[in-house]
Amino acid sequence: MNILLLGSGGREHALAWKLAQSRLLAKEGDTLYAAPGNPGIAEHAELVALDVTDHAAVVAFCETHRIGLVVVGPEAPLVDGLTDSLRAAAFPVFGPSRQAAQLEGSKGFTKDLCARANIPTGAYVRVTSEAQGLAALESFTIPVVVKADGLAAGKGVTVAETRSQAEEAIREIFSGRFGEAGAEAVIEEFLDGEEASFFALTDGAIIVPFGSAQDHKRVGDGDTGPNTGGMGAYSPAPVLTPLLEGEAIEKIIAPTVQAMAREGTPYAGVLYAGLMLTRDGPKLIEYNARFGDPECQVLMTRLESDLGELLLACAESRLGSVPPPVFSPDTALTVVMAAEGYPGTPKKGGRIDGIPAAEAASGAKVFHAGTALGMDGALTANGGRVLNVTGRGKSVRAARAQAYAAVDAIAFPDGFCRRDIGWREVAREEAEG
Ligand code: AMP
Ligand code: GLY
Repeated sequence: MNILLLGSGGREHALAWKLAQSRLLAKEGDTLYAAPGNPGIAEHAELVALDVTDHAAVVAFCETHRIGLVVVGPEAPLVDGLTDSLRAAAFPVFGPSRQAAQLEGSKGFTKDLCARANIPTGAYVRVTSEAQGLAALESFTIPVVVKADGLAAGKGVTVAETRSQAEEAIREIFSGRFGEAGAEAVIEEFLDGEEASFFALTDGAIIVPFGSAQDHKRVGDGDTGPNTGGMGAYSPAPVLTPLLEGEAIEKIIAPTVQAMAREGTPYAGVLYAGLMLTRDGPKLIEYNARFGDPECQVLMTRLESDLGELLLACAESRLGSVPPPVFSPDTALTVVMAAEGYPGTPKKGGRIDGIPAAEAASGAKVFHAGTALGMDGALTANGGRVLNVTGRGKSVRAARAQAYAAVDAIAFPDGFCRRDIGWREVAREEAEG
């Protein structure tokens, strides 16, 4: 069949790489299309220019090209209801409906669902004005967390260490800095513990675990400096033991999927749970309605099953009809090479050389996150996060050594990366000897 993948980052490069190996694309003439894609994705897919906000244009493309599966990478088209438009035209699509994507699109929606379904999460109050927010703050101890309700490109969350920081965050949200996303806010209890990400595929009824990961959100070594979309990640996350994973499925994931179905907004797609492993067990920090970026890159590196078949089964509400996903026990670890200036204003156009040689010498896989091809055929930086250099090995240390060997062999003078991705696990491995 033909498949259309939407998105242009490292997550989508990893999806394209894995989809290209699917039996769904095995027949002569089967084509993977990607819109808009990037130069890395172009190694596996035919790139097409499509405006994903123009639903009619996407539907028309699917009709003309007889698309048998649409895979939506990023959150914005989900929250915008692109999957509803595609389903209305009878195209199988991997990704939740607009209403179900509210699990990512509205923090207040998710908190209310947790309250109704008795899902462990931090105590919270939803507020719709600065005055309400400041008043609600009185009932919380410090630290406290202040969040814009809607999609704010990862910038809408403040973990406030002082009361005045929290007040400032509330004022900022209601000053309009986040636009529509800041029409409402959530004030939330601070949860103490280690964070882990857990992924599940669901067709709305059946749930299958789809791996765990940990990422590094801060820009600097030692987890310092401003927050980013993620400077690196590894999978699996051993802190999420089989026991804790079971508890997360039973108390968080399953009740969420059941409540969404019961309330007439079934959730189908990948459910990405940001968990805090507290002394009282796993608690939900937030949901995302799509794969994590760069978490997807490490999941795909370990996935041994046919990705296309799994995603199509989700899209066709028959997840029970395919074998459950199998992951290698290896560790995968990805290091993000970013452009100078990130997460502020990244420098565009920096030249990148030596990727194929770095891959060949190290065995690592380089996913393109924000790259472009210049007129002269040279690869250049075209975004904040530019490359995801991904190693694999029997231990975190081995995977990390492979990733950094490739990083050191790539020439990207205007780029930088963290040198300590995986430090928690490396410390644990070293303590164990
Ligand atoms: P979110 O966008 O909701 O994932 O929040 C971004 C980051 O803020 C999370 O990855 C956590 O590190 C932190 N955070 C969010 N909510 C809480 C909370 N209730 N307690 C502690 N940290 C939090
Ligand atoms: N790396 C975090 C995210 O994708 O939301």
